[in-house]
Order: sequence, then C-alpha cells, then structure tokens
Amino acid sequence: MLLIQGINYDKCTECSNCVEVCPAQLFSETDDKEKKYVFRNPHDVCVKCGHCISICPEEAILFEDEDSAFNFEGTKNLPDIVSYEDLLKILRMRRSMRVFKDKPVPEKKLEKIIQAMRYAPTASNRQNWRLTVVTNKKEIEYLSKESTKDLKLAKKLLPLRYLALPFLSPALRKRALDPRTKVILDRELGDVEKGKDIVFFNAPCVIILYSRAYTSNMAPNDAGVVITHGMLAAQALGLGTCWIGIAQRVFQKRKIKKHFKVPRGYQVYGVITLGIPDIEYQRAPPRRAVRVQRME
Ligand SMILES: Cc1cc2nc3c(=O)[nH]c(=O)nc-3n(C[C@H](O)[C@H](O)[C@H](O)COP(=O)(O)O)c2cc1C
Repeated sequence: MLLIQGINYDKCTECSNCVEVCPAQLFSETDDKEKKYVFRNPHDVCVKCGHCISICPEEAILFEDEDSAFNFEGTKNLPDIVSYEDLLKILRMRRSMRVFKDKPVPEKKLEKIIQAMRYAPTASNRQNWRLTVVTNKKEIEYLSKESTKDLKLAKKLLPLRYLALPFLSPALRKRALDPRTKVILDRELGDVEKGKDIVFFNAPCVIILYSRAYTSNMAPNDAGVVITHGMLAAQALGLGTCWIGIAQRVFQKRKIKKHFKVPRGYQVYGVITLGIPDIEYQRAPPRRAVRVQRME
C-alpha cells in the first residue's frame, strides 16, 4: 500500500502543486524558509491517491510502494496516443461475447487484464476488491448449474403468481405479470435440458469480483469501473468478455461464496466470462439516444 513519506527538499522548487491537488489537504505552507511546504498525515487520513506524485514536476515526493510511478513519453499528450474518435470506435465495437473457442486464455493475457483492472479508480481510493479466477471446467459447470437452479423454481412458481403477488417486490411483480417471462423461461430451461451452458456459454475462464461492503457502499460502483477496465483491456488483447449477472446473483448463497473462496464479509459485485472469441462482429449496433436534462 502506498505510503507518502514527505518531500525531497533537494528537488522541491516550491511550486505548491502538491498543496493544490491533495484531496485531504495534507500539504501545507510553513514559516520555515528551508522547507516552505510540509507533508503532515497525523491521523493517517491520506487516501493514498498519489496525486501529489502525479503532479510534482520535479519528482520530489518521497514515497514507498511495491509499484512505481508511471512515466512515459507523451504523458501530457494523451490525445496524440489515442484520439477521441479512435477511442469511441473501440468503445462502440466492444461486444458481449458468447461464442468462444475451446482454448484456454493465455496466462500472459490474463495477467495483463488484471493489471488494467488494478488501475481503475475506486471510491476514496479504497482498492479493496479482490478476484477469484476460475479456469477449472468442472467448477465453471458447477456455477452454471447453480445459477440456473432458480429458473426451475421460477417455472414451478409461475402458475401460482397471482397468489404470490401481494408478497412480491414491485420489480418481481412486474416480471411475474409480463407474458414474456414464461416464453423466456421455457426457452432457457429447454436449452438447459439439452445440456447447453446458457450462463457462461462454455467460456474457458470466469472472473469473480468481490469487495468488503463499506459504509457509503460504493463497492458496486467500484466493481463496475474495475470490470469495465478489464473488459476493454481484454478487447485490446483480442479476447472477449461478458458480464454475467445471472451468475452474480447466486453468490447471495453462503454455500456458493464459500465454494469460490469469497472471504467472510465480502460481497460479489461482478462475474464476467473471458475467452478467445470464435465469432467476429462486423459492426456496432445502434444505441438509443441519451436522455439529457440541462440546467443552465
Ligand atoms: C451488469 C450486467 C449484467 C449482465 N448480465 C448478463 C447475463 O447474465 N447474461 C448475458 O448473457 N449477458 C449479460 N450481460 C450483457 C448484456 O446483455 C449486454 O451488455 C447488452 O445486451 C449489450 O450488448 P453489448 O455488451 O454487446 O454491447 C450483462 C451486462 C451487464 C452490464
């Protein structure tokens, strides 16, 4: 974990950028002519965001971490590396992949995806999410079966829906009354009976993301950002992904959490598949317009 240790006064040019960017205001001015600015963190309120390291033109911030600061040519000219137009093409061409080659994900690519997830932002820079990477076919099959158990129960209960209506949440009530629910259930259960993997689509790798639930509970939001980083990185490596909400839901069961080594006090906020695509999308589909309200 990042530990800011202070300022290297041999390098500091007193530009005060660190004072300006620190969200916890831990850099302040002093009367000392030799040390115009100091770093004080008496109650360990530093969020370890590293913005002081990022902003300092002289690399004068002293810190300790297993990771190093990242300097590269063109740091300040990101539009020269990826233009908005190119980035938008990449974003629009990302697809949820549900057709995979029967081949494992190369270990090096998996590492690279995890590396991209590592640099995702999190609320208060908590970074407290963890992963379980499942590549064992039997385990993926087990999770798939557990995820479709509810479908069988739903089919059994569907004829009784009118009796259950007063006890259902508004969302479930809407679903129970929707005539499409039965059609979808029949199709999905038919596929399961034929031995199709309707949950993971025979993906060779499943990634489970979990975090400790915390007070302001931004953990689900953190998960969304972390997983998006992973999905985009996978795309850049020629791999396909799909977020699998249907599998995420079964992690409400303690038995499943334990089986997949989710520690106590942690909740699963994302499950994705990863694999080598066996299909190539030709174009991006349309999307509906964003409904924007302006307050000027
Ligand atoms: C939170 C979330 C949960 C999802 N759950 C599932 C799922 O359980 N099964 C599935 O096949 N696709 C799932 N998807 C994929 C969506 O169906 C897909 O993103 C959407 O249809 C748009 O297609 P695209 O990702 O190719 O743009 C999920 C996506 C998100 C963001």
